Amino acid sequence: MNRRKLLQSGLLSLGALTAFPHISIGAFADKPLELDSDGNIFRSPMVREVLPGFRMDPPALLAKLNANENPYGPSELAQKAVNESVVRGNRYAWKELFDLIGKIAAKEGVPPNHIMMGPGSSDLLEKVAIISFMKGGNIVSADPTYMSLISVSKATGATWKAIPCKDDWSHDLKAMEAAVDSNTKLVYICNPNNPTGAVTSGTELIDFCSRVSDKVPIFIDEAYMELAGGSDTHSMVGLLKQKKNIIIARTFSKVMGLAGIRVGYIVAQPEYIQKIDQITRGGMGIAYTSIFAATASMDDHAFQQMTIERNNDVKKFLCGHLDKMGYNYIPSYANFVLFPITIPGKKFLSDMESKGVGVRVFQVKSKTWCRVSMGTMDEMQLFVNTLQNMS
Ligand SMILES: Cc1ncc(COP(=O)(O)O)c(C=O)c1O
Repeated sequence: MNRRKLLQSGLLSLGALTAFPHISIGAFADKPLELDSDGNIFRSPMVREVLPGFRMDPPALLAKLNANENPYGPSELAQKAVNESVVRGNRYAWKELFDLIGKIAAKEGVPPNHIMMGPGSSDLLEKVAIISFMKGGNIVSADPTYMSLISVSKATGATWKAIPCKDDWSHDLKAMEAAVDSNTKLVYICNPNNPTGAVTSGTELIDFCSRVSDKVPIFIDEAYMELAGGSDTHSMVGLLKQKKNIIIARTFSKVMGLAGIRVGYIVAQPEYIQKIDQITRGGMGIAYTSIFAATASMDDHAFQQMTIERNNDVKKFLCGHLDKMGYNYIPSYANFVLFPITIPGKKFLSDMESKGVGVRVFQVKSKTWCRVSMGTMDEMQLFVNTLQNMS
């Protein structure tokens, strides 16, 4: 059975989750069969994702560079906190959750009623999509961008106004503002953006958010913000003090190294948080142990700093080699790099995989691109060696 037939037969969850663990079912829930003739998935008007050939038993990876994870985490303090708290895991963690909310509120400089927690920011992206589009409307975002919130919005009933990124891959804020109409219920901005790694200027974004959020809520996904050092961008959280209707998402999955432990949050106006609270249980999905891992991680500044420094070192190493090999990558302000390749996508993926390297491949603007996450220096060396030996 080929993969298209497998998808059509409804065996997707059985087979594909083992073969393609990075694929989000929700990402194409509204149109489950949106595949091209090569079996690539349409992610957006501009992006198709190239998938490896289907196998029930993919080889184990020596370098897992396909999900923008932190290769150094969880920090030792977080591991200790999980071990020590597991014994109390028979209890719901309401008080402990409120303590963590208080800590995050203090860090963000807002009162605690501005925070909602979730098991990863994905949970909150999805909740916002559902409450925004239960009665229809449209969502405005860049293309390419991170698809989670947009896919759930579409599945809930939204139409999507996809605004192509500018030539430097930053958000085209002018075009996005022009696309907002009386039926727009949400604007989504991912900064730094995934899968490009590009940033949008903080000054321009403040100007855009200040004006446009008077008409429509703006959701700013800052999953990679801690890694954006050296760019002219920063968090938009300060706009909340000016009563702007913005929602900012942060995650513990990247710089804190807790992707599998699942903690994230949004910061928004209390009325917005209440709107979500009316129909969902904010924070209910977070495990007791995850709350303690998050608290310990916030205090482990040395671990965060080490992650940022190593991420920069590894990125510099990679980009130096890409320069030497003549690859024209997009300057990245995150923990991944996107660059065009000339080898056909499926062959690239399978050649990488045969050496134990997992990456992602996309087709954007009629080119094929590899998105490689920053691993450890050894993992990156393996990636570079494999790339050098490809023809
Ligand atoms: C831009 C962006 N937002 C949100 C997420 C979801 O992160 P999590 O659910 O682990 O917090 C990711 C994950 O890679 C991401 O790249």
